[in-house]
Amino acid sequence: SDGRLRAVRDRVRSFPDFPQPGVLFRDISPLLKDPVAFRTLIDLLEDHVRASFPKIDFVVGLDSRGFLIGTPLAQRLGIGFVPVRKKGKLPGATESISYSLEYGRAELEIQSDAVEAGQKVLIVDDLLATGGTMRAACELLKRLKAEVLGCLVIIELKALKGSEKLNSIPFYSLLQYD
Ligand code: PRP
Ligand code: HPA
Repeated sequence: SDGRLRAVRDRVRSFPDFPQPGVLFRDISPLLKDPVAFRTLIDLLEDHVRASFPKIDFVVGLDSRGFLIGTPLAQRLGIGFVPVRKKGKLPGATESISYSLEYGRAELEIQSDAVEAGQKVLIVDDLLATGGTMRAACELLKRLKAEVLGCLVIIELKALKGSEKLNSIPFYSLLQYD
């Protein structure tokens, strides 16, 4: 399992000062490009989810890199996927929330009928920085009266203490960076 984690970590690269000065950007493109490492990533996430959350109704993925992780994970778990999107992309009635992230501000939306009251969801993204994005997504799901069982990311930027923003919701990251 340590070897599997290392295989995933070896496929993340870092770019200083992107997309703005002072940000050290962690890039998962090499991970997506390598089918063996990508499969290993989904294997590791599946193992964790099956052990920690035996009964989930949906995987919720965050626009856009959360879709790349959330959709294969949902398929592997044999459950449905629900997108949370940047503002203005989803048709029909939506709930929306504005939030701040490491390099700016944005607005997220979910379709009002995406989940029913009481349904259990796991929220998935590629990376947690300040936690603003993940916290906003949790708030959207709470408005739909869904039960957020946990939040899951590949990469956690520890120095930004984003997990503290998630209060009591169980949070898990596969890889941690300072
Ligand atoms: C990035 C990343 C997370 C978020 C993390 O997404 O994929 O969703 O920022 O930052 P935070 O913890 O400070 O909120 P971005 O908004 O750049 O969108 P993208 O996935 O479409 O590139
Ligand atoms: N890398 C990738 N995505 C991000 C980062 C980062 O360092 N910070 C916020 N979103």
